Amino acid sequence: MLAGGHGTRLRPLTFTGNKHMIPIANQPILFYSLRHLANAGIRDVAIVLGPIEEGIREAVGDGSKFGLRVEYIVQGDPRGLAHAVLCSREYLGSEPFLMYLGDNLLQTGVTQFVDRFRQVAPDAVVGATPVTRPQGYGVVELSGDQIVSIEEKPTRPRSNLALIGVYLFTEAIHPIVGSLTPSRRGELEITDAIWRLWQTRQRVSVIPVSGWWKDTGHPDDLIEANELVLQSMPPESFRIEGVVPPGAHIEGPVAIGPGTVVDSNVKIVGPVVIGSDVQIGSGSEIGPNCAIGNRAFLDRATVRRSVVLEGARIDRVSVTDSLIGRNVEVRASRPTPHEFTLVIGDSSRILL
Ligand code: DAU
Repeated sequence: MLAGGHGTRLRPLTFTGNKHMIPIANQPILFYSLRHLANAGIRDVAIVLGPIEEGIREAVGDGSKFGLRVEYIVQGDPRGLAHAVLCSREYLGSEPFLMYLGDNLLQTGVTQFVDRFRQVAPDAVVGATPVTRPQGYGVVELSGDQIVSIEEKPTRPRSNLALIGVYLFTEAIHPIVGSLTPSRRGELEITDAIWRLWQTRQRVSVIPVSGWWKDTGHPDDLIEANELVLQSMPPESFRIEGVVPPGAHIEGPVAIGPGTVVDSNVKIVGPVVIGSDVQIGSGSEIGPNCAIGNRAFLDRATVRRSVVLEGARIDRVSVTDSLIGRNVEVRASRPTPHEFTLVIGDSSRILL
């Protein structure tokens, strides 16, 4: 629980779709957001669940392992972020709240939003950052600290400033989300609500976001987020608990989980995290910037800048900039000089 700018409680909502348990540096994306909320001094969290619950209830439970009290709100069909706020109306009451999209990852967490809210006591705090392809985001146009326009995924963006997926609101947002009609893509848009809030009260604070920010909805962004997280992990989080023979070449920060067995003719160049009960066979090269999930099996494989999920099997294949799903099998019948960039969904099988 946190005392907000008005002496009221600040309640966070974290939103989920169907990709929030994908690991970044072997930790589900959602866990990073939950830690960020806890680090910002927040205690009460509701996770808004879509039609695919992804085992989130089982993994997060009551939130106590994050120092949080977590409840769940079922939105069902994703009819827009403002619709999710509508579904959460009873939980939120009249308190200010922070909404954190579960596929967003911020290097510096959400404390900067909470700090601004405490300092300025506006109706909303939103974050903006320059991007190269603003068409894929909510876009805000500013003149000094005044908002000139806000549009959701415009075909002709009026600025390069994307709205990031963290928003802090007071109860002033509720009558506005209640009066929205669906956008041309059929959703109740939170960007429309923010624009209307600005037009009626001019009390929306836009902050530049420090550090990197990633919307991990796209595989390229997820692979980049994995790299950024690995590169910013403290040295003490890289521990070697598995079996590594003296003949194996380990260089830079490398974590190897318990039960993992590395062959002697293997090269691993950090930053790399390897989960538990993984087998890394002779002739394999891993890293830099790789996360290998639990129970994966790599034999004569080269893996660079990639995320390999649990139970995946890579045999005689070189991959880079790849996302290999759970229990995937990628195999070549004979060694190939090619380096592949693959994005493969869970349980697929590829023979090259
Ligand atoms: O990542 C920042 C962008 O997030 C903003 O720039 C956009 O203004 C904002 O609309 C949002 O755009 P996305 O297209 O990335 O939203 P997406 O549909 O991917 O949903 C974001 C998260 O919210 C995701 O974790 C799923 C969840 N969600 C989404 C909808 C539409 C819900 O929980 N309920 C929903 O109804």
